[in-house]
Amino acid sequence: MRNNVEEEYRKLVEEIRNCKKCPLHKFRKNPVPGEGPLDTDIMVVGEAPGRNEDLQGRPFVGAAGQLLNKLLGLAGLERAQVYITNVVKCRPPGNRDPRDEEIRACLPYLIRQTQLIKPKLIIALGRHAARTLLELAGLKWQSMSKQHGHVYDASIEGVKLRIAVTYHPAAALYKPPIREQLKKDFGETIRKEVERIKQLKAKKEHVEPKLTRQTSILEFLGRSSTS
Ligand code: URA
Ligand code: SF4
Repeated sequence: MRNNVEEEYRKLVEEIRNCKKCPLHKFRKNPVPGEGPLDTDIMVVGEAPGRNEDLQGRPFVGAAGQLLNKLLGLAGLERAQVYITNVVKCRPPGNRDPRDEEIRACLPYLIRQTQLIKPKLIIALGRHAARTLLELAGLKWQSMSKQHGHVYDASIEGVKLRIAVTYHPAAALYKPPIREQLKKDFGETIRKEVERIKQLKAKKEHVEPKLTRQTSILEFLGRSSTS
């Protein structure tokens, strides 16, 4: 099962590396598919790679990424625990906003990532991620000032999950009031979601070790009866 996921993921990354489905491929140095554990419960979705991301082929490695790492900490998460990607995988020239047709062309990759990872929570950073993900789930997008700090029950191509909406960390770099909102969203709403997910997981793991112990006793009995 996991091998399949890894195999499908490798194919997906290869497709993104060779993708020419929208004009953004002409400007990129490196496409940025995303990074993080495939068996995580939490996905983070930003807007598009910036300069540093384009140079390194990795998401959120510049100043916005530094802030994102801190914000994840406020929610009780380490960066290495989450899968991070963007709505579009190639850098728009001069960091302009991605256009609707570029987002549409790139969307199948985000959908496949969601289907492979099956997260319980997606943190949508900024209006492009929030609008794209909410609309994909058939939910209404209005504005960041109305919807940040809200979490929505959603289903994306059969994957049931929740979408947490917040500002983009890059918007907070030069705007202290937005930084405060982001800190509050991560430290309160998103933290609660993360705790709920951790509790669910702990409950499951409480049941599974017992099964493992039983299995090993049966195995032991099996071995001793055949020896
Ligand atoms: N901004 C984004 O939206 N994504 C990145 O990967 C980096 C900056
Ligand atoms: Fe392909 Fe997406 Fe890059 Fe456009 S942005 S070329 S659709 S990978």
